[in-house]
Amino acid sequence: MRPLLSRPNVGALLSLGRARPAWPQGERGAGAGVRAPSCPGMVRSPAVSRGLPVPDPSRDSGLRPLVSRHPVALGGGRGLSQGVSPISFRDAEAYERMTGAWSRLVGPSFLDWLALLPGLRWLDAGCGNGAFTALVVDRCAPAGVEGVDPEPAQIAHAQRHRQRPGVRFAVGDAGALAYPPGSFDVAVMALVLAFLRDPAQGVAELVRVLRPGGVACAYSWDLPGGGSPLAPLGLAMRQSGVLGPSAPSESVSCEKAMRQLWIDAGLGHVRTCRITVQRRFDSFEQAWETSRLGASTAAVLSRLDPSTLTEVKARFRANLRQDTRGPVSLTAHAIGVRGRTS
Ligand SMILES: C[S@@+](CC[C@H](N)C(=O)[O-])C[C@H]1O[C@@H](n2cnc3c(N)ncnc32)[C@H](O)[C@@H]1O
Repeated sequence: MRPLLSRPNVGALLSLGRARPAWPQGERGAGAGVRAPSCPGMVRSPAVSRGLPVPDPSRDSGLRPLVSRHPVALGGGRGLSQGVSPISFRDAEAYERMTGAWSRLVGPSFLDWLALLPGLRWLDAGCGNGAFTALVVDRCAPAGVEGVDPEPAQIAHAQRHRQRPGVRFAVGDAGALAYPPGSFDVAVMALVLAFLRDPAQGVAELVRVLRPGGVACAYSWDLPGGGSPLAPLGLAMRQSGVLGPSAPSESVSCEKAMRQLWIDAGLGHVRTCRITVQRRFDSFEQAWETSRLGASTAAVLSRLDPSTLTEVKARFRANLRQDTRGPVSLTAHAIGVRGRTS
């Protein structure tokens, strides 16, 4: 079996974890098509998410407690009267400025942690506009990379800006990959798990297309831990009674659930890590204008009346808890997971 590791898995990371069963031995959590494991700190709130787990607001980003003059309720919260806009990845340029830049901050530490050899065949499932794919090319010298994503606008952006020898982008679904078994040495999902309707099926597909001894890996924001770059803005929206959409599988976006997904998919040598990144903005205005471009926030905020938007902005400023007269920085926390096929 060809070795994949270039060196021991230590790097500029805040914390590393070994796989431990999250549930009692013998009790299985999720498999493909089975309910996925979920995170501590997620609460069920039918009014907000139609029954899906959502982050517990009292733990949200460790900021001040939620105080809303406009309690969110189905049909009652601002932003709800015309229905909640879905999360959209159609605007690839906006994605580039907001989430793509954040993904590029996490990517290098994640790749250092993987510490894989050059010359491997990579699959980037949910590649978006290719922000992370480009890092793989620059830092890992792969033999080739296939990037797939269901959003045609993102794939078009990737093909325009990130086309390199050995790299191919195509529209595709991580839950039903169009590749035969054993096609890849490494299969990765960067900031994708929470957006899959069936994360266990997505991981099962990574495993299926890997060769024996291949590496399945992913990173996601620690959503229940308030780790999303959008946590301060999301809190500001809820404090203002404005409801944004939630991703279908936010409940798997934490260390415990991700580790369990990997174990349940039959992967061995499962490891996790936590990566903290900070993004500096020249001004509060720049942080605001960038954050409001988020895939889950842009459509809702663009439809708010001016006074509500002003309120959200003021609360966002307060939630940053720093002097906002000069440069400001936002912090985000990601969880990485990796495992080997047998
Ligand atoms: C936050 S973006 C991450 C994009 C890219 N990996 C990065 O790090 O910049 C999430 C991506 O997941 C994609 N996605 C949503 N559902 C998917 C599915 N079923 N299969 C593959 N990708 C999916 C979205 O289209 C979007 O591009």
